[in-house]
Amino acid sequence: MSVKEKETGPDISNLNDSALSKKERAELIKKAKQDAKEAEIRKKTEAREAAEKLKAEKFAEEKKAGKHKTLAEITEGKDDYEQDFKVPDNTVVYCENLVKLYKIGDIEVMALQGLDLSVQDGEMIAIIGNSGSGKSTLMNIIGGLDRPTAGRIYVNGINLLKLDDNQMLQYMRETVGFVWQNTARNMIPYLNALDNVKLVMQMAGRLDSNRANELLEIVGLEHRKKSKMHELSGGEQQRVAIAIGLANKPKILLADEPTGAVDTKTTAQIMSVFHRLNSEMGVTVIIVTHDRQLSHMVPRVVTISDGRIGTEFIRREEIDVNSDEMMNATAGHDSGSHIEYGFIDGRRRLFIPEYYLSKAGLREKSKVGIEVKDGKLELFKPEDND
Ligand SMILES: Nc1ncnc2c1ncn2[C@@H]1O[C@H](COP(=O)(O)OP(=O)(O)OP(=O)(O)O)[C@@H](O)[C@H]1O
Ligand SMILES: [Mg+2]
Repeated sequence: MSVKEKETGPDISNLNDSALSKKERAELIKKAKQDAKEAEIRKKTEAREAAEKLKAEKFAEEKKAGKHKTLAEITEGKDDYEQDFKVPDNTVVYCENLVKLYKIGDIEVMALQGLDLSVQDGEMIAIIGNSGSGKSTLMNIIGGLDRPTAGRIYVNGINLLKLDDNQMLQYMRETVGFVWQNTARNMIPYLNALDNVKLVMQMAGRLDSNRANELLEIVGLEHRKKSKMHELSGGEQQRVAIAIGLANKPKILLADEPTGAVDTKTTAQIMSVFHRLNSEMGVTVIIVTHDRQLSHMVPRVVTISDGRIGTEFIRREEIDVNSDEMMNATAGHDSGSHIEYGFIDGRRRLFIPEYYLSKAGLREKSKVGIEVKDGKLELFKPEDND
């Protein structure tokens, strides 16, 4: 293109040249239009690049002035109170003495009563407890939706108590993904499955259509990506919810009763999706449920009762996600698949399940004999308690 063309648009001065054939004239017009289009695109690109450069310079200046810190920078060594505290190695969720008090008028509810919990990076864990035991409260606190009344909580090295509302939003977008029992809470009903996954990415400013498709493939729903929510079964909706939960590549996936509304077979399917994400993508998975059936399907189970961790079950061997046991899991965790452990919390309290209490003839709110014999702690019914 000549200098003249660049400055003033396409040169069509020779179009009236009668020596030109019809075909040559048509070609000249075509070329002139094409050149004009290219010039237009170039102009827009240059303008966009200049705007981006300005934006980047402004961002760099603001960062220099202390804005736009990463979550790690925000929490690093800035808290006198926490200066001497270090999260144990490899621990991705660390809760210490967590307390949550809800107040409704004059009534106070202690939803968490000094809860201690550590979850290792890459673990898959189920927290099982009755209704009202504090499961959702704990998940909401780990997920950044609620704040504890007291205690300590670190997730992925970040002290959640130090984050302001904006930083918490950043944390929720970057670090955790949520899967709710109520599917309406996970997704927008008038959008299809794929658009729901994409929407979450867009909201975080990171749309990646390939990844959105990949996620639906991972949860086994690629063939239903154009389906809206009401066109999917409960189990399929939950699998879309898992894809949505993973949209922003969270380190931790939190699932609150993910199998609460589906049958046993669908439960096993959903659980195998969690297993895949955990083993193939390294996502730490935390599931809370009242469904004791799930205990067979996860390597580590802790029980929650009255807002505290009770006992803990560690699976003896690796779970084969395709095994019959996985598909036909039965209730309870007393079949010997897991080893049961008690748990002494940060206040040195030991939770004793009802089963052990009654077997040893002990009762709640009563004195108990206590002795150490051959390195073993023995609890027994004291004479005067008969
Ligand atoms: N926003 C709130 N305001 C007041 N009390 C609350 C609130 N959220 C939970 N609670 C109370 O805290 C306790 C624990 O509730 P939470 O929802 O954590 O239980 P849960 O284990 O998830 O139960 P479920 O299995 O029924 O979902 C309950 O006694 C509940 O009534
Ligand atoms: Mg709940």
